[in-house]
Amino acid sequence: MRFDWSVSPSSTEVKVNRILDADAVQLRSGSSPFLVVDSEVWRLWESEIVRAIRPEPAEVFTVDAREDLKTVRTVESLCAAMFESGTHRDGSLVAVGGGLTCDVAAFAASIWLRGIELVLVPTTLLAMVDACLGGKTGVNLAGAKNQIGSFYPAGLVVVATDFLRTLPRAEVLQGMAEALKTSVLADRDIAELLGSDVGKDRLPELVRRCLAAKGAIVARDLRDLGGRRLLNLGHTLGHALESSSGFEYSHGQAVGLGMLGAAAMAARRGGRPALAGELRGILESIGLPVRLEGKVDPAAVTSFLDHDKKTGGDGRTWVLPYDWEDCRLENLSPREEAALLEVALGELR
Ligand SMILES: NC(=O)c1ccc[n+]([C@@H]2O[C@H](COP(=O)([O-])OP(=O)(O)OC[C@H]3O[C@@H](n4cnc5c(N)ncnc54)[C@H](O)[C@@H]3O)[C@@H](O)[C@H]2O)c1
Repeated sequence: MRFDWSVSPSSTEVKVNRILDADAVQLRSGSSPFLVVDSEVWRLWESEIVRAIRPEPAEVFTVDAREDLKTVRTVESLCAAMFESGTHRDGSLVAVGGGLTCDVAAFAASIWLRGIELVLVPTTLLAMVDACLGGKTGVNLAGAKNQIGSFYPAGLVVVATDFLRTLPRAEVLQGMAEALKTSVLADRDIAELLGSDVGKDRLPELVRRCLAAKGAIVARDLRDLGGRRLLNLGHTLGHALESSSGFEYSHGQAVGLGMLGAAAMAARRGGRPALAGELRGILESIGLPVRLEGKVDPAAVTSFLDHDKKTGGDGRTWVLPYDWEDCRLENLSPREEAALLEVALGELR
């Protein structure tokens, strides 16, 4: 016997605008949604958010965007609040916030009564260009990131880039690093839109292009079994740099450095040698670091890499950028990896 399941939700509608219009978030179910919102965003944007959601939210649950609170315990509190508010099987959850709030809320939506309608309204650049699309939800366990989660794409994503007016600059840079990653992977023209001072009128185009590129990659491999792993560009070395610097580097800074190192590694294997220099110039123009500046001990990087979750028995799969829009998943033996790591760290000295 064989059964074919059409798994829901089966598609995501994405709207990208500058302003959060009144009535921008229309619930399919027609009943008042349960609203999960970043506490800082709620403080700054409450009236605009309430105006945008139709029907108006029945209940509001605020989330403090802290990684140590991105836990099953918070999800349990959220589910308890949905229980109290009588959120039914045909109800809905709207999440408004950065990647952290979206991840926690989407996970709760995926397990509450085995899955309810989900709408995401991202408010950081990182969440707009990356986290809001692709269906990855999750929370941390014992300090390890995103160990518990599900694949549960939102039915609707509503982006309003005006939220970025109140986002601290350091947070904007996190999103720029991910946007540059998307550019190297799939759309070189995105890099033209990046820089320390992106005009507010160009932000919707930046977000649209990033989501179009990410959506195309995810559509081929929602469950992250193959090609989606390309989205880890810059992350293998980046995670090791982030950890071994004792988190002195933010995630975005580390991903930028990780991409630069990976470009040097690819060049050693036949990639276009000028790519690393081009990336360095763009990272500098954005305001992201391009050198390690003594924050990292190279031996510690190797030791952190040994704990990286992408380690396989016969080596590790790296995403190597051979050129713009030509990134490849390559398995490196421990010997090849050690030699290329020297090259990468040399590039960052
Ligand atoms: N699901 C995915 O595909 C995916 C992809 C990338 C990252 N993530 C996750 O996203 C999280 C990081 O998310 P993030 O970088 O968006 O940051 P975040 O959600 O942690 O928020 C960062 C800070 O910005 C504040 N903030 C958010 N929007 C604001 C606004 N408009 N104005 C003022 N302040 C605002 C928050 O209160 C917080 O202090 C991580 O937990 C990561 O695991 C998920």
